[in-house]
Amino acid sequence: MDPNKRPDDMVRITTPELAQAFIDEQVEALRAQIGDKNVLLALSGGVDSSVVAALLIRAVGRQLICVHVNHGLMRKGESEQVIDVLRNQMDANLVYVDATDRFLDLLAGVAEPERKRKIIGAEFIRVFEEEARKVAGEVDFLAQGTIYPDILESDGVKAHHNVGGLPEDLTFELVEPVKLLFKDEVRVVGRALGLPESMVERQPFPGPGLGVRCLGAITRDRLEALREADAILREEFGAAGLAGKVWQYFVVVPDMRATGVRDGKRAYEWPAIIRAVNTVDAMTATVPELDWALMKRITERILAEVPGICRVAMDLTPKPIGTIEWE
Ligand code: XMP
Repeated sequence: MDPNKRPDDMVRITTPELAQAFIDEQVEALRAQIGDKNVLLALSGGVDSSVVAALLIRAVGRQLICVHVNHGLMRKGESEQVIDVLRNQMDANLVYVDATDRFLDLLAGVAEPERKRKIIGAEFIRVFEEEARKVAGEVDFLAQGTIYPDILESDGVKAHHNVGGLPEDLTFELVEPVKLLFKDEVRVVGRALGLPESMVERQPFPGPGLGVRCLGAITRDRLEALREADAILREEFGAAGLAGKVWQYFVVVPDMRATGVRDGKRAYEWPAIIRAVNTVDAMTATVPELDWALMKRITERILAEVPGICRVAMDLTPKPIGTIEWE
């Protein structure tokens, strides 16, 4: 039997009871596989890696070493939530690395989007590798949040390395407990494991994070304005019941300024651009019709609460022609 093929008769996990049965089965299998050895996991805070963490904590407790690398491009409160849920609520063995300065120093002055992506991706692996080296010898397993679509997309070839790029002298056996599950099943399992709704329903967030939404060369002040404006958008969409209904929504701040008037004086500050899309597979996307009063409230709040933003615009471009992200 191909371990990377979902059996035809595998029941789709849609209920807490089915999730519990999956959890019981996996906990037993993981204990048998891991024994008294240790497991390493790069925990991004995304749905898949969080569910794998919760599952492994259930199975082997503090034998799981979670490494959360904060690249300084996370959304507001995200790393704090990872620490709170995993360390405080689940008693996880969590290594938190605040690598903000390393990433932002490397990115200073770099405007080209693909170069920004490469720098962020390569530095991420470097930071994780440093942590992996510290535990090398004590750790035999590397857990990954691979899910079934990752396997399908890689044509059965094992190219789905979420933390790929580790040097060859660091050899770990892979542990991929949710690799036969679809995204909706991972969410049901996450809920049954007690993860908070905001983590289980977390919308897709690109690996390079806010780095590709702070357009052009990233500066700390503009990144901070973006983070605050994005937090207001998320809070208001959440309060309006749109979380989980609108597929992805976020703020973009371009590296240009617009004129405004603040307190009777001329202001020359950044615009914030709101992007909200619905999609099934992210290959095409449409812009949902949104409540005008909600959009006005968000606009007013961003203008009043976020220093450096003097204008709010809404992006109505479908994909194609526009991609979902701006960079
Ligand atoms: P685009 O902009 O290509 O985005 O229409 C489609 C989906 O992919 C996400 N995205 C990324 N995810 N690394 C990622 O992990 C990236 O570099 C990246 N770029 C885009 C985007 O957020 C959307 O969900």
